[in-house]
Amino acid sequence: MRTLIYLAHPRLDRSEVNGPLFEAAQTVTGTTCVDLYAEYPTFEIDVAREQDRLVAHDAVIFLHPVYWYSAPALLKEWQDLVLEHGFAYGHEGHALDGKVTFNAVSCGAADAAYSDGGANGADLRTLLAPFEKTADLCRLRYLAPFALFGAGRAVEEGRDKAHLASWLGLLNALTDDRLDIEAARASRTLNDIAAALPVASEPA
Ligand SMILES: Cc1cc2nc3c(=O)[nH]c(=O)nc-3n(C[C@H](O)[C@H](O)[C@H](O)COP(=O)(O)O)c2cc1C
Repeated sequence: MRTLIYLAHPRLDRSEVNGPLFEAAQTVTGTTCVDLYAEYPTFEIDVAREQDRLVAHDAVIFLHPVYWYSAPALLKEWQDLVLEHGFAYGHEGHALDGKVTFNAVSCGAADAAYSDGGANGADLRTLLAPFEKTADLCRLRYLAPFALFGAGRAVEEGRDKAHLASWLGLLNALTDDRLDIEAARASRTLNDIAAALPVASEPA
């Protein structure tokens, strides 16, 4: 699958997680990597250009930190402007039909906080419902989120490296059409699925 990765991070200079994941993604053949805040620092999104990008790819990944149970603001602006009626949804809007999408996120809170009995009162996939419902309306195939929990301590605890390896495994499986899409749709997160994948692309 031709894979489009949108990074949304307003302070990439301070990023410990999303920055390295974005850099690593650029080494994966078959991916196009877009830094939204670098391209649109004044939020003036080129809608036609973004729609062309979407049409030219089979999978769209939103790579971002979780901010206030959602994404940084520019990603919302991108959704509001790019996912137009007649393009992404509605009777005439079939440009995205069947494409694959998911959120690749980092969360400050620990895994345990993202549960019914935890501090956030719900799991991550449930809290990211606006992304899933938007994907459903646009007839995209929404996969479970890929997530790094406790992101603020990941580097000092050495958990960032395993997450990066899983990320590369996931991207290579997606671009090589080796990812079990139905299993990825049914899961709560993609973490266990990604961790079981080989990091490198398999020889053709
Ligand atoms: C404005 C703001 C809002 C945040 N909201 C959340 C949140 O709702 N849930 C959460 O788990 N972490 C939250 N965090 C923590 C970030 O998700 C965390 O710092 C980030 O994932 C780390 O990734 P980075 O190193 O790439 O910046 C928030 C951080 C900021 C700055």
